[in-house]
Amino acid sequence: MAKLKTLYLCQNCGAQSAKWIGRCPSCGEWNTYVEEVIQKDDTQAAGSWKPPTTGPGTKAVSKPRVIGEIHFEEESRFDTNDGELNRVLGGGLVPGSLVLIGGEPGIGKSTLMLQIAMSLKQMKVLYISGEESEQQIKMRAERLGPQHPQCYILTETNTQNIFRQIDQLQPNVVIVDSIQTLHSGLVESGAGSVSQVRECTAELLKYAKETGVPVLLIGHITKDGSIAGPKILEHMVDTVLQFEGDRHLSYRILRTTKNRFGSTSELGIYEMQGTGLRQVSNPSEILLSQRTESLSGMAIGATLEGNRPLLVEVQALVTPATYGTPQRSATGFDAKRLNMLLAVLEKRSGLRLGQHDVFLNIAGGLRLDDPALDVAVCAAVVSSLNDLPIPGDVCLAAEVGLSGEIRAVSRLDQRLSEAEKLGFKEMYISQFNARGLDLARYGIRAQPVGRLDEVLSGLF
Ligand code: TYD
Ligand code: MG
Repeated sequence: MAKLKTLYLCQNCGAQSAKWIGRCPSCGEWNTYVEEVIQKDDTQAAGSWKPPTTGPGTKAVSKPRVIGEIHFEEESRFDTNDGELNRVLGGGLVPGSLVLIGGEPGIGKSTLMLQIAMSLKQMKVLYISGEESEQQIKMRAERLGPQHPQCYILTETNTQNIFRQIDQLQPNVVIVDSIQTLHSGLVESGAGSVSQVRECTAELLKYAKETGVPVLLIGHITKDGSIAGPKILEHMVDTVLQFEGDRHLSYRILRTTKNRFGSTSELGIYEMQGTGLRQVSNPSEILLSQRTESLSGMAIGATLEGNRPLLVEVQALVTPATYGTPQRSATGFDAKRLNMLLAVLEKRSGLRLGQHDVFLNIAGGLRLDDPALDVAVCAAVVSSLNDLPIPGDVCLAAEVGLSGEIRAVSRLDQRLSEAEKLGFKEMYISQFNARGLDLARYGIRAQPVGRLDEVLSGLF
């Protein structure tokens, strides 16, 4: 029997060491080294996937080619029949791509993937699950609606067995739920360990690249929000999608964090219902739907998530601090940025916020980091502090600088059009934005301003 080799692997970044180390020299994390058994000769030989000698998987050995001679067809992407998923993938599923979908437990990854599997009606789909039994998957499928005649379910975790089944079935799309449950016979360590995750991904990658079959992988997420397993996993795959949202709210956001075939600034929005996930094609309407007329502490900001303009409600509550140190808390917005904006309000506009608690919330459970929300945050805070409502048909989109100046934001035209579409009458913008645009073209009155004080005196 071949001598077994053991190595210590960092469970965070995948770094290797011959002996145990307390702190990983590569990523700086503590206590992440775990001993794993690795079969000596097979560590480099990623993949048990053997291309068949006949059939659609056959491909010649690759040779170098001049870039000008390489042809590609623009429309070679699969339509997933899901507008939101197509959008985050950059226009559809690319053949031979490996897509990783990460998200917290219970957020709806399995539901989304099963829904996609069932909607790919024109294709043979193989859904491999190491997490649920066939009966459980069937039960879920029943809730999701009409059944797909060519959707196959396989409950198996050994990659060699999986490839044997794939060889027989020759699917057009493969979905794996989840990468952490797979194990390969080539590596000794347990499922979910760094070497297993890496090996199984390498095998699936090889399969996808050689046959042109797209593979969608579900990945678990650790407590700090990164995809469990080594960072290498994210480097290996073509696209990384994050499925996020508050489990107690019904909205879910699918975000691209890496994409070799498209932009990473895309965003898909779903709503979890009793019958699965519903695509939300006009998010601003739901984000604003619970708006009652003119309450203090509310301001509407015109933000951009990816390439999508969204109008969101920024809510602030400012109350006198009853216990010693005033509290500042932000949900869906960067707390440091809130502190900075409060300091600007204090210094440049003379507001006394030092003895007040400030709570900020972006309605709808979204997490946003667009600086264009700055002025809406300031407006909401002042509105709550003075208990003066902002008119319901006014929205804001501009960045606030440290000296209280109002700075320009990107793609104002899209923000203006969206606000106009939703029936807003007036939008506060930076005077620098106003220069290049023909503002008379819009059915909404753009109010160019240069300083934060001008916004506040205009609104209140
Ligand atoms: P699931 O896809 O199992 O999450 P994950 O794979 O990310 O762990 O879905 C989890 C939740 O979704 C579950 O708590 C129930 C809810 N759900 C619905 O609300 N409606 C539905 O139609 C389905 C299938 C699930
Ligand atoms: Mg699941």
